[in-house]
Formats: sequence, structure tokens, C-alpha cells
Amino acid sequence: MGYYNSLYIAVKTEISQRINRREELRILQGFIQGLSGTVIEIGCNAGYLTGKIALVGNVTHAIGIDTNKSRAVAILAKIRNLGSGVKFMYGVSGAKIPVEDRSVDAIVLSHVLEHFVNPTEILADISRVLKRDGQLVVAVPKEKYLGEFTPDHKILFRSLADLERILDANGFKAIEAREIARAIVVVAKSVA
Ligand SMILES: C[S@@+](CC[C@H](N)C(=O)[O-])C[C@H]1O[C@@H](n2cnc3c(N)ncnc32)[C@H](O)[C@@H]1O
Repeated sequence: MGYYNSLYIAVKTEISQRINRREELRILQGFIQGLSGTVIEIGCNAGYLTGKIALVGNVTHAIGIDTNKSRAVAILAKIRNLGSGVKFMYGVSGAKIPVEDRSVDAIVLSHVLEHFVNPTEILADISRVLKRDGQLVVAVPKEKYLGEFTPDHKILFRSLADLERILDANGFKAIEAREIARAIVVVAKSVA
């Protein structure tokens, strides 16, 4: 995942969030409004969405984690979220979340799952840290053809069914879902 360890990718992500992903982010933020307690965003990048999570009335702790070790990205995340109480952990993988079992109310995973060759790696650790009634909010880009957009996408999601299949196989059940032209956004619960 060295590809992501740079400010360049963070800037690209920020631009895409504002231009190509406006409808998706509106849906995602709608789902995020329903979260409460301790919420971790895995793959937080420069903390754009983590800051929105921290503003949700019932969220008590917002934590962003990312494998990215770029100092510039960490500084940007910190500055833009000054005073919000958000905690960031960089150089940390969502497949090894540094928190206790069953201690987290919700996880947000936006444009991360498609980068895993084996999604069980990350979904198993999410299952471990989520409380029994915890929620997983997942957004993935929707693709039509193999490798159409980026070779860095290891799983290509063409429909909601593709995402549901992976969630089901890893002990999660979708309870809310929206599929739009460019993305799929789901709220799921652990049934393990
Ligand atoms: C395409 S960006 C998405 C950023 C943001 N979540 C969004 O929705 O725009 C993917 C992010 O996931 C991070 N990432 C990739 N693999 C990860 C892992 N195993 N654990 C935590 N973060 C990871 C990358 O460093 C990058 O910041």
C-alpha cells in the first residue's frame, strides 16, 4: 500500500471527494448522522470525513486511522480538525485496529475495501472490535469493467450484490443500502 503513502494521493482524494463523489458523500453523510458513541474511520486519509463524523450529535469519540505515514497528511488532518476532539492514528492498518475487542460502536470504511486482495483480513478485525449491535458503514466505487478505473482496485464492485456477497461471507448483513451510478453505500450489522 506504498502507493498511498504520499501527499499527492491525499490531494487527489480530496479533489475527487469534492467533484466526482458529491452524491455519494451526501448519502454517506446521511448514514453517518445515525451513528453514535465511539466511531472509527478506517482509511481516513487527511481526515475530511472523520471531521464530519465528529460533528454528529451522538458521536462521543471520533478516531481516524490510516496506513499512510505522510507527515503532511497528518498535519493537514490535524489542522482542519482543530478543536473537534478527533484522534488520528497514522501508520496503522484497519486489519490490525489497536483497540479492545467489542469496544467500538461503529466503523466507517469509505473507498478502502476495494484495495484488499483478501477482504476477510480487514472485515475480521472490524468484527472483532465492533460491539454486538455495532454498525459498519461501507462505501465502495462502482466499476463496470475489469481494471477500468485503477489497477490498484483489487476487488471490482459492479453492483450492490457484489458488496453484499462479500459482507455476507464475512458475517455482516446489510440493513440499509444505496446504489448510485458511481458508488455503493451500505450500513451493515455483524451477525457473527
Ligand atoms: C482511496 S483513499 C479513500 C480515503 C477516504 N476514506 C475517502 O473516502 O475518500 C484510501 C485510503 O485508505 C488507506 N488505506 C489503505 N489500506 C489501508 C489499511 N489496511 N488500513 C487503513 N487504511 C488503509 C489509504 O492510505 C488511503 O488513505
